[in-house]
Amino acid sequence: MFCVGNNTYFSLFYSIVNILGIETSCDETSAAVIRDCRIKSNIISSQLVHRQYGGIVPELASRAHQQLIVPIVEEALHEAETKKSELDGIAVTYGPGLIGALLVGLNFAKSMAYGLKIPFVGINHMEAHIYANFIDEPTPNYPFLCLIVSGGHTQLVRVNAPLNHTLLGETLDDAAGEAYDKVGKMLGLGFPGGPVIDNLAREGDPEFVKFPRSYLDEDTFEFSFSGIKTSVLYWLRNNKIHFTNQITKIAESRETTNKKLQTDMEEPSTNNRQLLTNLCASFQAAVVDVLIGKLLSASDKFSIKDIAVAGGVSANSELRKRLTDSARERGLRVFFPKTEYCTDNGAMIAKLGEMKFNAGISSSVELTAIPYLQL
Ligand SMILES: Nc1ncnc2c1ncn2[C@@H]1O[C@H](COP(=O)(O)OP(=O)(O)OP(=O)(O)O)[C@@H](O)[C@H]1O
Ligand SMILES: [Mg+2]
Repeated sequence: MFCVGNNTYFSLFYSIVNILGIETSCDETSAAVIRDCRIKSNIISSQLVHRQYGGIVPELASRAHQQLIVPIVEEALHEAETKKSELDGIAVTYGPGLIGALLVGLNFAKSMAYGLKIPFVGINHMEAHIYANFIDEPTPNYPFLCLIVSGGHTQLVRVNAPLNHTLLGETLDDAAGEAYDKVGKMLGLGFPGGPVIDNLAREGDPEFVKFPRSYLDEDTFEFSFSGIKTSVLYWLRNNKIHFTNQITKIAESRETTNKKLQTDMEEPSTNNRQLLTNLCASFQAAVVDVLIGKLLSASDKFSIKDIAVAGGVSANSELRKRLTDSARERGLRVFFPKTEYCTDNGAMIAKLGEMKFNAGISSSVELTAIPYLQL
């Protein structure tokens, strides 16, 4: 073995078959097993404790990870029918993320690897989002463009070759997922707002309000979402509209039978629901326009025909539909991970870990958590 910086390179003759992936960067505790390029388990526990605070409370996240890490890893191994002694390597997120949350997963992985006398590798969470597109076939050809749209990041990346990428641009203010979550809060939709807005927007009119689209300088691949978010706030203020706790009503109506839904529709709340769905659709249309606009102009500029999307917002149904349609019209190929691999998950960590181990890369025990780790 030999070391360069944080990486330890070991003999390529060492056979890496069973890899455990661990993810604890934010509010999901997740573990997965990959064996011979196939995901055998992917256990994700989302911490519900944060919902009552309308956002993630770092200290509570670390504590929840501490309680969950052992049972989640055990469940992942059990589901994959893999004994600890059969593991060949462990991959774990070491940044970016919340320091306390990262440390739980990283220290657990280091100790487990040390105890089992197997290598471990530190994984950049954002890089893992990109390679979630390689979990299932078909996969993009290199070079390809990847738009990472998550709760903390909006980045456009040119992936030149395996494990080699260039950042083309990123958001100057809010991430796309962050804007979804903040608008969700304004609309009384709880946290996280993204999936709920996505659902409600299906019923709404995207042209109800024309929220601004921030394309910034057309030649750059930077993004800005705080303007769209603030426009929603001003629109609500100007129209004297306050939405509070809509989430209970929506959750109830989702669980009700058709008959009950019809009764609901006769009630005065119908007006609110229509307004709510129209606002969700109008906000979403503005975000999706910008994301697709930037992605397509990068595809033109670099003459790259394979486009991948990653991160929590890549689960968005409107983004998926419209980007797929635009790609078809232009003869591009577009790739999205399966929904369970869009938000934080151990499978993407295990996948990238497998690629790194196969390239002969592992980490030294000195590796530490880096909250602002860059791509
Ligand atoms: N269907 C959806 N439509 C829009 N946004 C969504 C959807 N599903 C999830 N999201 C958003 O995805 C985000 C969570 O994604 P993810 O777990 O990748 O982010 P994160 O890990 O918190 O941030 P990062 O990856 O930048 O560190 C949240 O902001 C959530 O609202
Ligand atoms: Mg993430």
